Amino acid sequence: MDPDGSEQDPETKKYSSVCVGREEDIKKSERMTAVVHDREVVIFYHRGEYHAMDIRCYHSGGPLHLGEIEEFDGRPCIVCPWHKYKITLATGEGLYQSINPKDPSAKPKWCSKGIKQRIHTVTVDNGNIYVTLSNEPFKCDSDFYATGVFKVIQSSS
Ligand code: FES
Repeated sequence: MDPDGSEQDPETKKYSSVCVGREEDIKKSERMTAVVHDREVVIFYHRGEYHAMDIRCYHSGGPLHLGEIEEFDGRPCIVCPWHKYKITLATGEGLYQSINPKDPSAKPKWCSKGIKQRIHTVTVDNGNIYVTLSNEPFKCDSDFYATGVFKVIQSSS
């Protein structure tokens, strides 16, 4: 049963935006969770910008809303509380450090694994925060934990 079509493939679904709360509240708490069209998301307010992404980490489904935000290579990231994977708030890229094995004295460099966590769009209208789910036509690793048996819907109250 899928009355609103929310379990459709993101490639074909057009999502309407959903009001998830008030700007004044997220500015105080700096994060909130919400269920948008049956998908759990976390919304961060960091340095004057809003970022929304799937709430479960692409690696093993860790709870990103319980992670800390830190900067790596000048890029704000949520650090997953389970295994410390770093995910950029702006793009959902997984970051890792790499070292040249032929030059072990070289400083490790931050590299991107590509987009791993699905990012959603946040808009603000008249003090209300709206989230529009991404329907970008690619398979994102975090989709696995946002759908099917791994999906765990929390109370948003
Ligand atoms: Fe997030 Fe493993 S579940 S780092």
